[in-house]
Amino acid sequence: MALKILIVNGPNLNMLGTREPEIYGTKTLADIERACAEKAESLGIGIDFRQSNCEGEIVSWIQQARSSCNAVIINPAAYSHTSVAILDALLACGLPVIEVHLSNIFRRDEFRRHSFVSQAADGIVCGLGEQGYLLALEAAASLLSKE
Ligand code: DQA
Repeated sequence: MALKILIVNGPNLNMLGTREPEIYGTKTLADIERACAEKAESLGIGIDFRQSNCEGEIVSWIQQARSSCNAVIINPAAYSHTSVAILDALLACGLPVIEVHLSNIFRRDEFRRHSFVSQAADGIVCGLGEQGYLLALEAAASLLSKE
């Protein structure tokens, strides 16, 4: 069966395109989903691309991924900086995890410099906008090919 990667987007990422474009750019989440779908096709893998504003829903999706997906790419958005629940779900799922941020979280507010989620991440891409998702897909495909 073809490999499948869950791509999870956290709160307010549904607002991309109009949300602080000077920080997050003008691409919408739908644009990013399209670019991910194209990249995934070129890598011969499937994706399940989702967004939620609710922490518990994200936790449930990660739990379900354990039996339906081979890796997780996650932009936890603001939950990066607050959520032990998402960290624990990622640690429990036993899948490779790549964390993505559109902006460079180390060049912004002090509170954004710490991500709870990073403790569960095999790798982190930040500051490269949409391209970060595409690099994360390449990295996840490469990790899975070594398994
Ligand atoms: C973000 C960075 C977070 O600090 C912020 O809360 C977001 C988006 C990013 O993609 O740059 O919502 O994860």
